[in-house]
Amino acid sequence: MNEQEFAMLVEKTRETLQRVAAQFQPAVFASSLAAEDMVLTDLILRDKLDIGIFTLETGRLHAETLGVLDQIKLVYGYDVALYKPQAEAVESYVQQHGLNAFYESVDLRKECCRIRKVEPLNRALQGKRAWVTGQRRAQSATRAELHVQERDEAHDMEKFNPLADWSEEDVWHYIRSNNVPYNPLHDRGYPSIGCEPCTRAIQPGEDVRAGRWWWENPESKECGLHVVDGRLVRIKSVAASA
Ligand code: ADX
Ligand code: SF4
Repeated sequence: MNEQEFAMLVEKTRETLQRVAAQFQPAVFASSLAAEDMVLTDLILRDKLDIGIFTLETGRLHAETLGVLDQIKLVYGYDVALYKPQAEAVESYVQQHGLNAFYESVDLRKECCRIRKVEPLNRALQGKRAWVTGQRRAQSATRAELHVQERDEAHDMEKFNPLADWSEEDVWHYIRSNNVPYNPLHDRGYPSIGCEPCTRAIQPGEDVRAGRWWWENPESKECGLHVVDGRLVRIKSVAASA
């Protein structure tokens, strides 16, 4: 992609975000604080768009990931909203199964994600008309049909994936050319970052998501934020009308 094509890609993404802010109030952006989400954070905060940014603070994130919150405050003067799991639910899980029971079975892993991510996400989305994510089509087989705009039936609202068409290279080109702060773990072999105990570095040539829930089969590797009953939440896909 040459510079002109890249500028057009950025412009199209900016227009999508402007449309979300103008037509789907109240709208929020779910940021995992990874590279993709920093591109969107930069676009939203630079253009002062009315899209609130939140992070699901699972209680198991890397210190480096939490450090990105300070970077965002420093560079943009913005406080990302944090949604944390319900203490009683976490306590009861840990008491019954153990702190790291997610290594034992897919069910216990999904239950941990439900308590630490899915329930807090539902709270974060309550009363909203749209949410924005940093998902990209090229990230995994399960995202191969990702659209920029989708209908999220589970949350009864619109869901926007403005970076659906972006490659990993595009993400890094944007970050470097705009001096966007990013999680230092990306420079240590972590292209995809989730909770600390469920993320490891990858070797050159490995799939970008190979370090996420690496002990599981590829088909089960979604945390429930973007899946309902094992199906992707893409019941009624809507083409973006920019
Ligand atoms: S996951 O489903 O496997 O965890 P991934 O890490 O690729 O997802 O992130 C995809 C998108 O999900 C992110 O761009 C972001 O919009 C959302 N997301 C994932 N984790 C979080 C989090 N902890 N807080 C907020 N949003 C998140
Ligand atoms: Fe729990 Fe791991 Fe899911 Fe984080 S990614 S919520 S630690 S199972």
